[in-house]
Order: sequence, then structure tokens, then C-alpha cells
Amino acid sequence: MSRAACLLVIISLMSPAAEALDNGLALKPTMGWLHWERFMCNIDCDTDPNNCISERLYMQMADVMVKEGWKEAGYEYVCIDDCWPSHQRDAQGRLQADPKRFPGGIKKLADYIHSKGLKLGIYADVGDKTCAGYPGSLGYYEKDAQTFADWDVDLLKFDGCFMNRALLGEGYTNMSKALNNTGRPILYSCEWPLYEWPLKQPNYTAIRDTCNHWRNFDDVFDSWSSVKSILDWTAAHQDIIVPAAGPGGWNDPDMLVIGNFGLSHDQQESQMALWAIMASPLLMSNDLRDICPRSKELLQNKRIIDISQDSMGKQGYRTAKGNDFEVWERPLSKKRLAVAVLNKLEIGGPRGFDIGAAPGWKICGPQCNVTQILPQYKEMGVQTQQSKIIVSVNPSGTALLTVTPISSDFTRLHKLNWQGTFVRRKHTIL
Ligand code: GAL
Repeated sequence: MSRAACLLVIISLMSPAAEALDNGLALKPTMGWLHWERFMCNIDCDTDPNNCISERLYMQMADVMVKEGWKEAGYEYVCIDDCWPSHQRDAQGRLQADPKRFPGGIKKLADYIHSKGLKLGIYADVGDKTCAGYPGSLGYYEKDAQTFADWDVDLLKFDGCFMNRALLGEGYTNMSKALNNTGRPILYSCEWPLYEWPLKQPNYTAIRDTCNHWRNFDDVFDSWSSVKSILDWTAAHQDIIVPAAGPGGWNDPDMLVIGNFGLSHDQQESQMALWAIMASPLLMSNDLRDICPRSKELLQNKRIIDISQDSMGKQGYRTAKGNDFEVWERPLSKKRLAVAVLNKLEIGGPRGFDIGAAPGWKICGPQCNVTQILPQYKEMGVQTQQSKIIVSVNPSGTALLTVTPISSDFTRLHKLNWQGTFVRRKHTIL
């Protein structure tokens, strides 16, 4: 074999099996805000000007995101969902925003959002119509991609209503190409697998090649039963979907509904913890202009966001269940592990869980350092595989911890004092 051929073989052996969409975007799970769950298709600006789908809503959300620490916490994309366009395309066949609700047009809105150091997302549909009945992009992929690029849009959520399911793959792929051909980096958020599952098992290699994230399952609602159903679906399909996730492409279990009406605080903590474990996009759908301080603190919790945005980009999954507990674990960079313990029993009070029963606890041999993040921050110090730590978990709540292994080289230089905390030896043992 020639040297060049040999090199090619080596390079191809080194390449990961599933390539991500090559647009340099979503190297970490996307963070931002998306209007759908909270504001839906409210187009009644006459009687409800504060909450209707209009340029004002996104401008106000962007203002708050900058003023109230959201941008600093990492939330970057302000995203429009369905119901923004006019029911008619313009004379050139281009989509246009509803003129009454978006008098400045989308380009002006994008300029405003960019002036705040944020990014703008928009919504369209692969089929004839959007789910709410607005014009779809079928037959207009190039034109719509170019229109979004001309408007300086940064993200496209591409829905899958009113489309022949057999043609979903072709449609999503063609739009991906059309976006790439514009030359503008536009993050591509798909719903391809969600619409394909009823037909056949989706091809996640192709999906990862095409999209930056992809919805697999039903829309999230503002309720614990909805969040639970998403977790159940994800765990039931984790062997298929988890390997597809990584920098550039993520499974999308839908929006965070934290800060709304339907979840107790414990349930909000569960959604935040599990969305971080699942390496999910963190797209909030709530009213940032009026949000309870505890929900805000949770959504801006740096330690949880650090888990979500971990540089290794591996999705976590359910590793154990029993006695109405579920353990979910996510491998993190530097050989660390995030562990979430969800109490699924919706009756009674807090229940204790021996964290040593988490399958990932084996990284505590010989020793590890443990930090509890939820329900409250607590340094638990150095532990061993034999340590018995009981974490208390409220009904439908979650305890979230990080575990950092301490290598045997390190432990040789230290010894445990009687309290289980480290003291430094005076002399180094070689
Ligand atoms: C659904 C989609 C939702 C939202 C809605 C808009 O199909 O899953 O997230 O975009 O359409 O009509």
C-alpha cells in the first residue's frame, strides 16, 4: 500500500462513526428561550398585547435576558416558534412576517437581538403547512433558507406537520443543504425522528449528519406527567438515541417549562437536573419578565449548567431503577460523573437513597470527591467505595451530585484522617 493510501486508512479508522452536521454549531447543547409552550399561537395583540406573538415579545425577552443574568448564565438564542408569518407569501414567493404583529419585519428584529449580543431563531415546516396552518416550506426550501439568511437569522426550528412521512428524510436533508448553501451558519433544529417513529425506526446516523438537534417525542406540556412521559420514552429508547448525541448534534426532549404553572419546585429541579444529564438543549419556554426567584435561581444554577455544557459532550442515561427510584448518570470530562437520583413515588415524604447503590459509584475506588448540587449545594468531601451516604429525595424530586475520582497516585500522597477528610502528608511517599 502506498504511503498516501496508508494514511487514508489510518485517518478513516480514527474518524468517529457518526459525523455531526458540519456547520460548526451546537458544539454544546443550545441554550436559549423559545416561545411555544408558554405563548403558543396567541395572535390576539388587540386584547393581549403583552403576550401575543409579536416582535415586542422577543424584544422584551431579549432585554430581560441581558438585564437579569440569563445571557451571562449562557442562554443565547431567542427563538420564534409557529404563528409568526403572514398567511400569504409575498409577490416573490418569500415568507413574510405578519405585518401587524411584526411591523419592523424579521431583519430589524434580528438586528435588535444581535445588538444585545444574542441570537435569533425562527420556525418553519418541511411540509405544506406549519402545524398551526401557516405556509409550509415544501417546494420553497432554497427560497426560505435564503430568506432566513438574508434576515440574519441564526437558528431554524423545522417542524414536520403536513408532510408525506415517506419523504421526511428527503425534505429535512434538502433543507439542511439549502441552509448550508446560503453560507450563513444557521443552527438547524429538526423534528424528523418524531414524525418518522410511527413509520419506522429513524436512521440516527443520517439525522446527526443533517441536524444540530432533533425532537424524538411528543411536545412538552406544563405538567409533571408530561415531563415524566418524556423521561420514560428517553429511557426506553436510550440504546438507540444516546449514541447519536455529541458535539454538533443532540437529542432534543423539548423545552424547559420551569417557571410556569404546572411543576412543583421539586419537579422543576427534576426537569433541570435530568435535562442536564441528557445533554439536552436548554430552551426555556416561560415568561422571563415575571418569573419566581427560585425558578430563576434554578435555571441559572452554574453547577447544573456546567454539567449540561460539559466539554466531553456525552449524553447521560438511566443506569438503574428500583424501589420507585431511578438513577441517571452522565460521564463528564476529567473522568468525572454526574449522578441524578429521581424519586418517582408521588406519595409520602422524603426518602433516603444510598448513593453507593448507583452503578457509577464504582469510580469511588479507591476514593472520590463528592459534591451535592440539588436539592442543596453541599461539599461531601472524600469518600470511598464503602462509604454509606444516604441522600434524601423528595417525592418527584431529584438529588444531583458530581463524583470526581481520585487517582491512586494522588491517594498515595495523602491519607484519610479519621473524619474522612484529607490531610496532606508531610513527606511524599515515592
Ligand atoms: C408542534 C411542535 C411544537 C410547536 C408546534 C407549533 O408540532 O412539536 O414544538 O412547534 O408544533 O405549531
